[in-house]
Amino acid sequence: MTLLIRNGTIVTEGASFVGDVLCRDGLIVEIGEILEVPADAEVIDAEDKLVFPGFIDPHVHIYLPFMGTFSKDDYVSGSKAALMGGTTTLIEMCCPSRADDPREAIRLWKSKAAGISSCDYTFHMGVTRFDEGTAEVLREIVVEEGITSFKVFLAYKGAFGIEDAELYKTLALAKELGVVVTAHCENADLVAEMQKKLVAEGKTGPEWHEPSRPVTVEAEGCHHLMAFAEMTGAEVYVVHTSCIPAVEAVVAARERGVKAWIETVAPYLILDSSYAELSDFEGAKYVMSPPIRSKEHGDFLWKCLADGIIDTVGTDHAPFDFETQKHMGHPDAEMCVGADLKPTGRAGNFTMIPNGIPSVEERVKLLYNEGVCTRRIDLQTLVRCASTNAAKIFGLYPRKGTIQVGSDADLVVWDPEWSGIISQRTHSMATDYSAFDGYSHLGRPEVVTVRGKVMVRDGKWVGVGGWGEFLHREPKEK
Ligand code: URP
Ligand code: ZN
Ligand code: ZN
Repeated sequence: MTLLIRNGTIVTEGASFVGDVLCRDGLIVEIGEILEVPADAEVIDAEDKLVFPGFIDPHVHIYLPFMGTFSKDDYVSGSKAALMGGTTTLIEMCCPSRADDPREAIRLWKSKAAGISSCDYTFHMGVTRFDEGTAEVLREIVVEEGITSFKVFLAYKGAFGIEDAELYKTLALAKELGVVVTAHCENADLVAEMQKKLVAEGKTGPEWHEPSRPVTVEAEGCHHLMAFAEMTGAEVYVVHTSCIPAVEAVVAARERGVKAWIETVAPYLILDSSYAELSDFEGAKYVMSPPIRSKEHGDFLWKCLADGIIDTVGTDHAPFDFETQKHMGHPDAEMCVGADLKPTGRAGNFTMIPNGIPSVEERVKLLYNEGVCTRRIDLQTLVRCASTNAAKIFGLYPRKGTIQVGSDADLVVWDPEWSGIISQRTHSMATDYSAFDGYSHLGRPEVVTVRGKVMVRDGKWVGVGGWGEFLHREPKEK
């Protein structure tokens, strides 16, 4: 398979220049000004187009048993949606419950993608319990299953959340193994208390989700994780950072020598807390944790991206249908349930709304429009935060995350002139709503390749299921 992408503006984290990219057998084999056209090559004209390295989403949920239901996508819809949006690699959270065996869990999560996914993928291994046998099993998962990042939840007590002693042991092991630990940072006890208080006061609608998990709760989670990282020397990565005090807690720890990365996610950059206040329960569409904050926090996150304080932008794609699944938290939830959901027998409230927003398809378009077109970030920053940094942090670089001879031929030919409107009717995700419905945007991925195979052409899906490969990773040198 030979592919020549001609005359595009090639954008990497460090440069932009006009040139050609020649790909053969899945790899980039030559980059230059006017390359000879091999007789067997398919030629893609990229004049007046941008050529990006395939984007990497470091935080998605495709298979997620959560809050009494399951996320809506599978790897057919999830990987297609990713590619339609220019994302060629997914890093999914493998989230076993506390009762599950981690070895079986990673095999189950892998089985959901193997032979089905159209894009490449790997997993962060959720550590939701740490007992006598856990260290041995995690060692095996790192070496034999090729997983070199863990995920811990300081929130969701009773589901995925771990105790402090477990957190300490997880981080100590990660340090020993050269594994980075990603973490959801919110103080679970504070959340539980705030939820009880608000519900007792009759404050039950989606608009009370944010007040139940205010910025202090998230900042405490970050500070907490940083203390444990400092004690163990582990490398940590804070997922879905939503607000000023949370970023400040991590920056303060960096100044003390803690090796900590910061991720934010697209909904925090584009939306604000007023969305959860929409009437007729529409606000439930925007319930995720940590919650979407007021605009000043979003503005601050943009600035941190431009300044390189925030390292990555993922999505935390966690897709639940509005009409059925989100309605589990509706005041009339005992009657209002979907075909695959059992009646709850009780009135709903915001604590029962499945947390999460679908967005894997829209991330790059949103960053391009709200970031590059408004000059909040430049093209290099776009590439860095939506591709290169994730590859570097999670052991995929330079195979992924750049346009360089020897890298996988994962490429996005971006048409900056295209204008379109985001709509649930045309998206590839499986959900019955889009959080960005009606958003007019400039630019779209015109051609998307995964290891040299064209999966999107003229903005249309031409991909095949099962082309995606699991990315076996090696621990970092210590
Ligand atoms: O609301 C969210 N973020 N849902 C998905 C689970 C998680 O916390 O990442
Ligand atoms: Zn989370
Ligand atoms: Zn998540």
